[in-house]
Amino acid sequence: MRAWGFKSNGDPEVLQEFQRPVPTPEAGQVLVRVAYAGVNFAEVQHRRGEFGEPEGADGYDVPGLEVSGVIVGLGAGVEGLAVGSSVAAYLPTFGGYAEYVLADAAFVQPVGTLPLADAAGVPCVYPTAYGVLTDAGRFQGGETVLIHSAAGGVGSAAARIARKLGAAHVLGTVGSTEKLALAKTLGYDALFLRDDFTGAALEATWGQGVDLVLDPVGGPVRRGSLDVLAPFGRVVVYGDLGRHGDWQADAWDIWKNNRALAGYNIGDVARRSPDTLGAHLAFALSALASGELAYQPPTVRPMDEVVHVHRALESGATHGKVVLAVW
Ligand SMILES: NC(=O)c1ccc[n+]([C@@H]2O[C@H](COP(=O)([O-])OP(=O)(O)OC[C@H]3O[C@@H](n4cnc5c(N)ncnc54)[C@H](OP(=O)(O)O)[C@@H]3O)[C@@H](O)[C@H]2O)c1
Repeated sequence: MRAWGFKSNGDPEVLQEFQRPVPTPEAGQVLVRVAYAGVNFAEVQHRRGEFGEPEGADGYDVPGLEVSGVIVGLGAGVEGLAVGSSVAAYLPTFGGYAEYVLADAAFVQPVGTLPLADAAGVPCVYPTAYGVLTDAGRFQGGETVLIHSAAGGVGSAAARIARKLGAAHVLGTVGSTEKLALAKTLGYDALFLRDDFTGAALEATWGQGVDLVLDPVGGPVRRGSLDVLAPFGRVVVYGDLGRHGDWQADAWDIWKNNRALAGYNIGDVARRSPDTLGAHLAFALSALASGELAYQPPTVRPMDEVVHVHRALESGATHGKVVLAVW
């Protein structure tokens, strides 16, 4: 089969097409013929080497945390799924940029009436958005949420889920003025530039502050997020887009006003609580297919453009979700 991966870490150009055998499903696994692979920022980090060097037996690592496609094989003991079904799958150990991939049955769900292209961007993004809001963020209806990287994959999904769960106000930040206009179409009540959001966020909440901040950026953005947090508010940390690394907070700032800093990692949820992840994926696919959750279809690019797509995602030039067509 064809696969797209890298033999050494580096710039987008290290991604190349190569051949590897179609894998055979073992117990509990599902073999999916991939139609579309969702593109995630974590795959940029994977390629850059932030998760270590390539360790495939043939020398290659294949990125890709989420796919849609058709089941073509089932390992022993897999129940409730059938060959020929159209499904979406979360892949905690990557591998989605390929014609075929093995997925753990716990993370494979039928897409229902959702088109395969739209379903490819769901399995990593939506459980993450749902998990940061509800599990880590303990979101309650009537609260105000501030979403950093508001026009991105996880950010735009989180905005829609927050709205569906009854948020009073959904605020967001983006990195450039061009993205402000785009993000407005995603249903935010107010949007700010990330470099200077604290005053505007406090003004938009009449000085009360926000109840929940979703932060994949880090550094000064994380610091500023605590500054705009209302008493009993929570900041959920779930990424380090700015590559700021370590960061310090004043514990007094947190405990004196009953604030909380929480973390979320989908890979860890997959390892420790696979059923939670499977349930969040099933919820998202069904809510998107029924129209209960509104969404904008992803941008679809051919897999041959994977280098270009990685470059665009890495430079902050993409908006919404991008999926790569494998068929
Ligand atoms: N913890 C988890 O379980 C988990 C799961 C999935 C994703 N994530 C994290 O969530 C974040 C978003 O992922 P995604 O796949 O949905 O990506 P994305 O938001 O679609 O794309 C990345 C966006 O991040 C923004 N950004 C902010 N600072 C940046 C920087 N220094 N360099 C590049 N872009 C920057 C850019 O938009 P603006 O400049 O307009 O803001 C860019 O478009 C990533 O940090 C990812 O690692 C975490």
